[in-house]
Amino acid sequence: MIRHIGVIGSGTMGAGIAQVAGAAQFDVTLVDVDIERPRQAIQRIRGALDRQVDKGKMTSEEASALVSRITPSATTSDLAAADLVIEAVFEDLETKLAVIAEVCQTTGEGTLYATNTSSISITRLAAAHTRPELVAGMHFFNPVPVLPLVEIVRGELSADRTIEVIRQVAGQMGKTPVDVADVPGFAVNRLLIPMINEAVVCLETGVAGRDALDATMKLGAAHPMGPLELADLIGLDVVLSIMEVLHRDLGEDKYRPAVTLRRMVAAGKLGRKSGEGFYDYV
Ligand code: CAA
Repeated sequence: MIRHIGVIGSGTMGAGIAQVAGAAQFDVTLVDVDIERPRQAIQRIRGALDRQVDKGKMTSEEASALVSRITPSATTSDLAAADLVIEAVFEDLETKLAVIAEVCQTTGEGTLYATNTSSISITRLAAAHTRPELVAGMHFFNPVPVLPLVEIVRGELSADRTIEVIRQVAGQMGKTPVDVADVPGFAVNRLLIPMINEAVVCLETGVAGRDALDATMKLGAAHPMGPLELADLIGLDVVLSIMEVLHRDLGEDKYRPAVTLRRMVAAGKLGRKSGEGFYDYV
């Protein structure tokens, strides 16, 4: 039975996961390297909940109770009593390997470990855990409080019980779990990120302008956002890194990252988080 969830990484994804875990009545410890980061993340969550309160979708008491279930921390040793740890740190293999190796030393014998990686092999990450059968992928989508899907990724050594419990936790968080294989990009990013990359190629080659390209997919395919707006939401660095994984690991030219995408990332134009991407946010 899962009662206490540790979330590592207090960026957009980690904060969103902490919020939906708190909403599902779990006790949450939100860990980052510097205590100010989880504290600020909790303030952002409070701000989002206050907007729900203003709209009459929850009471102020419910918002306060949810926030009080999330405890900020700057050390993984606070996860000793966690039943499940969800890692949502920066999408970098070495960082994720270091976190998993550290966490399996500080958590209990049976603590499950889920990673929110968007493209790295679960089996590869699980190899850094002393008990790889306790490891699986739990891939959320941005904005986490809004999007109902969680991809459940089974590593080569994931135990049936691990998958079952993680699937149940996703359900308790109000999400719809879908099983996907441990392949590059899993399912959503295998479909979504090449579409975004192709939109950048269309922009480069004059198929249509930025606004027109976004309008085509919003009005012609009922997507809530156009691909270039969505790239800005996801982060151009994240889009590039997923394309690089698809290109390298699947070995097909059709996954080659667009030149403009590389150039924009090199220039620090990362989308909403840097204030400039395909659109301006200042
Ligand atoms: N956090 C919390 N809640 C949010 C939010 C956020 N960041 N953004 C919007 N919301 C809430 C709003 O409060 C509102 O709630 P209510 O209905 O309860 O009032 C609701 O979502 C709708 O918001 P808006 O009316 O402001 O805006 P919208 O209807 O235009 O929707 C959107 C905004 C939800 C972002 C929508 O455009 C959308 O779904 N876009 C596509 C996002 C997408 O594809 N994400 C996947 C990215 S890929 C990924 O995450 C995986 C990866 O590995 C890269």
